Amino acid sequence: MHIQFSQSRPETARLLAQVVDKGKLPSSLEKAVSEGANAARFKGGAGQLFESFVERDGKVLRLALAGAGDRNDEARSANLEKAGAAIAGKYQSSGETEVVLDLADSGLSADEAASVLLGLRLRNWRYDVYRTRMKDEQKISLETVTVINAPEGSEAAWAEAAHLASGIEFTRELVTEPANIIYPESFVARCRERFEGTGAEIVVLGEAEMEKLGMGSLLGVGLGSERESQLLAIRWNGGGSEAPAAFVGKGVTFDTGGISIKPGPGMEDMKWDMGGGGAVAGAMLALVLRKAKANLVGVIGLVENMPDGKAQRPGDVVTSMSGQTIEVLNTDAEGRLVLADALHWTQEEFQPSRIVDFATLTGAIIISLGNEYAGVFSNNDELAGQLYDAGIATGDKNWRLPISAAYDKLIDSPIADMKNIGGKAAGSITAAQFLQRFIANDTPWAHVDVAGMVWSDKPGQTWGKGATGYGVRLIDRFVADNLEG
Ligand code: BES
Ligand code: MN
Ligand code: ZN
Repeated sequence: MHIQFSQSRPETARLLAQVVDKGKLPSSLEKAVSEGANAARFKGGAGQLFESFVERDGKVLRLALAGAGDRNDEARSANLEKAGAAIAGKYQSSGETEVVLDLADSGLSADEAASVLLGLRLRNWRYDVYRTRMKDEQKISLETVTVINAPEGSEAAWAEAAHLASGIEFTRELVTEPANIIYPESFVARCRERFEGTGAEIVVLGEAEMEKLGMGSLLGVGLGSERESQLLAIRWNGGGSEAPAAFVGKGVTFDTGGISIKPGPGMEDMKWDMGGGGAVAGAMLALVLRKAKANLVGVIGLVENMPDGKAQRPGDVVTSMSGQTIEVLNTDAEGRLVLADALHWTQEEFQPSRIVDFATLTGAIIISLGNEYAGVFSNNDELAGQLYDAGIATGDKNWRLPISAAYDKLIDSPIADMKNIGGKAAGSITAAQFLQRFIANDTPWAHVDVAGMVWSDKPGQTWGKGATGYGVRLIDRFVADNLEG
């Protein structure tokens, strides 16, 4: 989508859009429009849209009013994105090719204008590369946004926000691609392409190197796959001499369950079992493109979980890089096995100041929180609070659940140091307890279970059906508010 700024309304304009705060219809609107908006109960609530027609300078134009909610809402930037998204959602395939966003009377700041544009661009995103026979009316028609009467500084603010959009779109692309296209090595290759020339440093370990390091936990998951497992690290040194913050992602490019195989219906969803890793990759891209003033590292454990003659079996005992042994009672609880070694390696290699991991770890978190909040588990109140705040501000919402010694003992094993599943109860918590066993005591750590967040069966705030890009804004905002000086 092409976003441009102009001094005046282009001659070609047929579609205008304005952003309206809740209860604040601009007095400059034509009488028919404001009466129509009132009659349609348009109040300017976040994401609400009212369409009308107006005659301006002798031309009949389509006019859309997009609601941005309350000016003082703590979710202001998320709400502004919803306003932009409402415009894109309405006109994406309408036949209109250009929307003129008129910000006169909007009262928006430059950053707020950028949030509207971000929502517009993100909601217009769709991955059509494999759809070769689309009819014209199915195709995306909306290509250009021309902003007029923009507040001063909007162009610069948008240039920054556009990096965030690129990161989110990269995450969505990785999550959307099927598992015959995105597997561990091709995930790495796509990252190499995207980070080329950005100044980020890429480190990749293959199976031979991981074997040398003793990563029996991660490697065990990939045993049944023809695809080689990979451990990917993306480093960005934009800060001073301080230790980096680490973001670690689960990158299971397909999860059949392995020998503990999943039922057939719905298994195709498991192409997005790399959504945590995808969020880390996209967030690192956004941060690197905007040259974040912080030291950061993103680590992604990339594995395909398949059943096969070589696959690991229920009951197998594997030894992780940390030296701790694991009884694999269910080969479908594989994400924690991948993260165990990825987390340990991250600490050994980078001595991070804090670690946040992102993983589509448990179906149980969807039972608990649905598709509204990710689950957060943390050994550090401050870190959990920072993630909560970043979630509210950006719309990547998350909610903390407990961890404690009482849950931890549920994963003790009679034959090894631990087993990879607890009982029926508290499935997301026992998964978090498992991960915590691979975190050195004093390192602030949070685990974000994003199983309910990375994919959406229906259009939402700033996405169509499919990949949401959850986590990218969260990480970006967390870094901006807490790590950049
Ligand atoms: N990738 C799944 C979790 C998942 C389920 C993500 C549904 C998104 C949607 C994970 O690897 C898994 O299979 N977890 C098991 C754990 C169980 C065997 C203890 C689960 O949640 O059923
Ligand atoms: Mn699984
Ligand atoms: Zn999984």
